[in-house]
Amino acid sequence: MIQELSYVGFASPAVDEWRTYGPGLLGAMLAPDGPDGSVRLAVDDIDHRISIHPGPEDEFRYAGWGLANETDLHEFVDALVDRGIAPTWADLDLCRERGVAELAWFTDPWGLRHELTWGKAATPYSFRAGRAMRGGFVTGDQGLGHVVFQVPDLVAANRFYADALGFRLSDRIVSDHFDVRFYHVNGRHHSLALAEAPGHVGFNHLMLEYQSMDDLGKAIDLLRAFDVPTMQTLGRHSNDLMTSTYIGTPSGFQIELGYGGLVVDDLSWTARTYAEPSFWGHRFTRTAMTTRPGILRPVG
Ligand SMILES: [Fe+2]
Repeated sequence: MIQELSYVGFASPAVDEWRTYGPGLLGAMLAPDGPDGSVRLAVDDIDHRISIHPGPEDEFRYAGWGLANETDLHEFVDALVDRGIAPTWADLDLCRERGVAELAWFTDPWGLRHELTWGKAATPYSFRAGRAMRGGFVTGDQGLGHVVFQVPDLVAANRFYADALGFRLSDRIVSDHFDVRFYHVNGRHHSLALAEAPGHVGFNHLMLEYQSMDDLGKAIDLLRAFDVPTMQTLGRHSNDLMTSTYIGTPSGFQIELGYGGLVVDDLSWTARTYAEPSFWGHRFTRTAMTTRPGILRPVG
């Protein structure tokens, strides 16, 4: 089974802006550049979990999913082959670049790339926050955070991600203008969410969770100095109970900065349906309404 969201990769022409945005605003640590000049960020003692590759346009490149060990990865890949998904084993160069022991990748029916891995490189006590912080990021057995994709067909996407890949449904939020499914692979309420966007596929946001509310507050204070727009005001989600705000990035997608997210117990968890995403707050700003945040492309 997939155990965690391990890492994510994007491409962007604004790659160098991440050298100040990542440490100065988010509080992440700048890791050594990748072989192609990619900017890499660490948020804990794992070598790096966020990569921005140089590229001509903003693009979601890959999500890396961690499995417990070698045996689990090979069994999982074999099971996918039986289901008609045939992952490709990566060569040593790519494994080295990602900092993993082994890697097999595939794309979903709409072209989103996923990498299955084990054995990511780590160095104890190596993380130093990029700015003054009270705590670090919530990672450990909850992985990096969560990613939210937009897909043209939520029912088909659920078949792929839940039935074939084993993502466990946490709950749904369904309203007239909103249809989103949330999935867990560990205690984090969701490591993956899928939102229906008819005719489109894309990446909406990456969520990073702070251990201290003060570090979220400090990020909000720093937005003006870094000239970064708020996309959704501070609010609290109805399902994962996360207190968070959504902000712009140099590369088209958004980052949700959160605090206090719910931890679920899979043995007793029952999926619910909610009508609203938030108890309070999370108002869309004018910037969000005019720029349509996220990296979206039409699909046929
Ligand atoms: Fe989120």
